[in-house]
Amino acid sequence: MFRVPELAAKESPVESAAESGPAQYVITAENLTKSYGDMTAVDGISFRVPAGEAFGLLGPNGAGKSTTMRMIGGVSQRTSGSLTIMGLDPEQHGPEVRAHLGVVPQQDNLDEELKVRDNLLVYGRYFGLPMSYLKPKADELLEFAQLTDKAKAKVDALSGGMKRRLTIARSLINEPKILLLDEPTTGLDPQARHILWDRLFRLKEQGVTLILTTHYMDEAEQLCDRLIVVDKGRIMAEGSPASLIREYSTREVLELRFGSARNATVGAELEGIGERVETLPDRVLIYANDGEAALEEVSARGLRPVTSLVRRSSLEDVFLRLTGRSLVD
Ligand SMILES: Nc1ncnc2c1ncn2[C@@H]1O[C@H](COP(=O)(O)OP(=O)(O)OP(=O)(O)O)[C@@H](O)[C@H]1O
Ligand SMILES: [Mg+2]
Repeated sequence: MFRVPELAAKESPVESAAESGPAQYVITAENLTKSYGDMTAVDGISFRVPAGEAFGLLGPNGAGKSTTMRMIGGVSQRTSGSLTIMGLDPEQHGPEVRAHLGVVPQQDNLDEELKVRDNLLVYGRYFGLPMSYLKPKADELLEFAQLTDKAKAKVDALSGGMKRRLTIARSLINEPKILLLDEPTTGLDPQARHILWDRLFRLKEQGVTLILTTHYMDEAEQLCDRLIVVDKGRIMAEGSPASLIREYSTREVLELRFGSARNATVGAELEGIGERVETLPDRVLIYANDGEAALEEVSARGLRPVTSLVRRSSLEDVFLRLTGRSLVD
């Protein structure tokens, strides 16, 4: 549907970019920094995103995700560093850059007074697109967002998940090459999240570059080819979900609950089981490649947890390892 011929022609944009410059990447950020007075919200982050990638910013509240997204979207000025979108500086080429972008902000900002389909038409008019293009496009996007039967409903009658899908539909009105999604599924129930994930997969299949923020580890694992883990405005780690888990965690995790009074003290008695023991207020985590074997060792030491669970490592474990804190407070 959308093509970037100069990018599609290159087989390996990541490797070739070193010789041929930043144009091979749809987004480059070097030492990108944003301060509000004394407070540094984004503290010198650097990353590059090749065309067609689903790239994530994973981090807790206040990490600087939205601030970064707003700078990419050209609605917030950076304090220092450099940033290019399709080879252009968004501060110098705002309208040109915005023509390539679709933006899904953290808070839906739909026009609640207007009907669903009219939201798409009015938004399209901001881009100066003609009605002859917008009308069939709006119908196509309503179909894509599974909102065709809501076309004539008022926005304030939609559920949260439907509003989110409408915001995504709206962001696609100009057939953007890059879609910015700031916490696309926060606050939605599991079914609504899965519908949205499916729609985002389809866009990725069509070659749209997805830049998304999330503090849901499962969302990052499902959607992102590659991600940066951010905390307090800095990049803590970068890689594919699988490579980050390999690098920073064990294959499995044994989760034990001994009861709130005992969790804090039992850690010392578990030392030496698995590769690492992490004590949280509500549970103790034992990082081990074989979780069942670790559980046998726990029993052999005469320790009796109230509950035990063996699971695969996740990005949550990566975040805990890197920062000593849990992703979701
Ligand atoms: N306009 C502003 N003025 C002052 N401080 C701001 C402003 N916008 C953001 N901040 C601060 O910058 C930091 C990063 O905020 P940001 O919204 O980018 O975080 P986030 O990672 O998107 O968090 P969340 O997951 O809660 O959305 C926070 O400490 C926030 O209070
Ligand atoms: Mg945010």
